Amino acid sequence: MSGKILVTGGAGYIGSHTCILLIEAGYEVIVFDNFSNSSIESIKRVEKIVGSSIVVIEGDIRNRDDLRGVFENHKIDAVIHFAGLKAVGESVEQPLRYYDNNISGTVALCEVMSEYSCKSIVFSSSATVYGDPHTTPIKEDFSVSATNPYGRSKLFIEEILRDLYVSDNSWKVVLLRYFNPVGAYKSGDIGEDPKDIPNNLMPFIAQTAVGKREFLNVFGDDYNTHDGTGVRDYIHVMDLADGHVKAINKIKSFNDVMTINLGAGKGYSVLDVLKAYEMASGKEIPYKIAPRRDGDIASCYADPSYAREILGWEAKRDINQMCIDSWRWQSKNPDGYKS
Ligand code: NAD
Ligand code: UFG
Repeated sequence: MSGKILVTGGAGYIGSHTCILLIEAGYEVIVFDNFSNSSIESIKRVEKIVGSSIVVIEGDIRNRDDLRGVFENHKIDAVIHFAGLKAVGESVEQPLRYYDNNISGTVALCEVMSEYSCKSIVFSSSATVYGDPHTTPIKEDFSVSATNPYGRSKLFIEEILRDLYVSDNSWKVVLLRYFNPVGAYKSGDIGEDPKDIPNNLMPFIAQTAVGKREFLNVFGDDYNTHDGTGVRDYIHVMDLADGHVKAINKIKSFNDVMTINLGAGKGYSVLDVLKAYEMASGKEIPYKIAPRRDGDIASCYADPSYAREILGWEAKRDINQMCIDSWRWQSKNPDGYKS
């Protein structure tokens, strides 16, 4: 495959892993990032892994001139749009910052793409748009809702991109709804590097296993699930990355808006993940049962059959592999990219 792909947020967790597979598939990658939640170190390590250098542009998607500079200098074929803020709790405290960054940023990006007649975009949406689903597994046509500004920013952006397509059918839009991305590249050189105390389960467990946290709080053991703890669809970040390459391959051959779940299609509880991580790391991971976390739901996992049908994609790595790869990254880099 060939073509130039602009990867906004390409220095972040999912973006950096996706860059590897895009380059391996033959695409030229331009990373555009303001490093608000990442560092250039991730890209340096990706360059080592792929054995070639990557064009990196420091800029903000809200700044149209920053973006115009990219499109002036590069003939971009398609954009994978990862750039965004993603902490649910923070979004409740700082809604305007989230709406400005995520929504205004996407509007600016699409305007500039339009100016340069680049009309192919793959967008990072989230399973959070399903709210509290009435049943599982979750299909793409389930109703959507949001309970916090982060989730609403994803819902609004999905709608904005649909409106854009209605106004101009030459747009090609893929909305990828990720379930719970975890794990790391197999070498353990890149991975998830939360800036503060991790909000998400797997990075918190990883930091507990490596001795940076004393114990894991298990948020609720009275849900209607097989062991009472919350069930989620964990997906290996390299499988997720592969979904993006397949979406980019596909985008050439259609004009439409496609909405696709990227999940493994299996639900694991908090205690299932904890046990798998103990096996992978050989460490005992202390935990305490704590009250439920506000806004959490009992169970969330995908029906991934549409991704298989339309993209020929399915998740290949199981929960043990996710924990093994997460542990390799965490134990090699106890302080993340600062290590
Ligand atoms: P991340 O924070 O590691 O990566 C996002 C990147 O975007 C960072 O490098 C950050 O510096 C950059 N960025 C943020 N705002 C920017 C701006 N205004 N201009 C330029 N760059 C900017 O997050 P991630 O986990 O890699 O997530 C990538 C995308 O996937 C996000 O849009 C996120 O909402 C979405 N998503 C993530 C998850 C998850 O659990 N990780 C789940 C569903 C959806
Ligand atoms: N959990 C704990 N202890 C922790 C952290 C999490 O018990 O310290 C539990 C949660 O209660 C939940 C499960 O682990 O049952 C998973 O929680 P995460 O925070 O890892 O993931 P969520 O499913 O809550 O949310 C994540 C992202 C959202 C995204 C959603 C769907 O944080 O942004 O997946 O993609 F929208």
